[in-house]
Amino acid sequence: MTHSFAIGRAFGGRAAVAVMAMACSTELADARPSSAGGQSDDRGSAPTIRAARPAPLFGESDEPIRNALSTAPIEAVAKGSGGRSLAFKLTFRDGLSGYFKPEQTFAANWYSEIASYHLDRELGLGRVPPAIGRRIEWRQLSPRAARDERRDEVVVRDGIVRGSLVYWLTDPPEPVELPRGWESWLRIDQRPKVSPFQALSDYRRALKRGAKSRDAPELDPVRAAELSDLVVFDHLIGNLDRWSKNLVNVLTVGPAKRLVFLDNANGFEVKAKPSWLLAARLAAVERFRKRTIEALRAFDRKKLERRMATDPLAPLLNAAQLAQLEERRAQILEHVAALERRYGADALPW
Ligand SMILES: Nc1ncnc2c1ncn2[C@@H]1O[C@H](COP(=O)(O)OP(=O)(O)O)[C@@H](O)[C@H]1O
Ligand SMILES: [Mg+2]
Repeated sequence: MTHSFAIGRAFGGRAAVAVMAMACSTELADARPSSAGGQSDDRGSAPTIRAARPAPLFGESDEPIRNALSTAPIEAVAKGSGGRSLAFKLTFRDGLSGYFKPEQTFAANWYSEIASYHLDRELGLGRVPPAIGRRIEWRQLSPRAARDERRDEVVVRDGIVRGSLVYWLTDPPEPVELPRGWESWLRIDQRPKVSPFQALSDYRRALKRGAKSRDAPELDPVRAAELSDLVVFDHLIGNLDRWSKNLVNVLTVGPAKRLVFLDNANGFEVKAKPSWLLAARLAAVERFRKRTIEALRAFDRKKLERRMATDPLAPLLNAAQLAQLEERRAQILEHVAALERRYGADALPW
């Protein structure tokens, strides 16, 4: 039983929320293949390749959990322990919690958390926990931010703040553990390159020093495919805030340490010109998951818009944001097409 299946089937009362919360913590360990997303058929593939097939962590039916997050009375509020943005862990009844990022003038785009969730589901990735918009009275939250210097950055209108509420994972997420040189997993051309998968200041310093050649660690195809998907996802949403120090935004959950895409609040900024950093990160990936690229080719912006229109705070993205999403999608597909011309099927090994 997958976690999301448990949510869809069991939800419907107080006990069900507890079941749901438990499912979210235990079922994450379940790494069996799933047909969700369903675009590809890799029967006959080599075992290592089949091992890389994803079991979506989330996504068959998010409605019960999203409905609960959007309407359940708040029982407790705690200030988040995150980075630059101000956020709150909200506890509802029966063990259900959510992470609320209010609209703020700096650092966090609440709408990006929700738009990222819908995009994840539209592509069949199943890596972003359920998310929904909610309006909350500021007086319910403000006591917890009383002495916080970011307090004045919160946008309060008529006593109300709007923001994103992301399902709180009961298993604490942990930064991913990656061996030195893991970047080679994503490359066909094995010439040494400076890794763009580090904090910007470190990356700039490393670019000055130049790349040192190093031995590639043994390939972990499951992790490699997850990381490849993450770079695709971040390129699509335009997220520059993934590869910070100590990998605090590249998180895993459960005993199987599956990658989850948490903290998607930096995305969907309208830019005057495309980001060189995003381009460098995309260029550093030469191996992609076939199913993800197929989903990207089949992507229909209107379907994403219809999904996003179900959010209580819709519209989540404006025309310029949607147009830049389309541009970034085209960049990925052009990059993959060029790799396929050069390397053939090696560009889509998983
Ligand atoms: N949905 C969630 N479930 C469990 N833990 C979460 C969740 N959202 C955030 N956290 C925890 O809070 C930390 C900060 O959240 P994050 O979204 O990264 O905020 P910030 O934008 O401030 O960096 C995360 O690193 C994680 O440990
Ligand atoms: Mg963070």
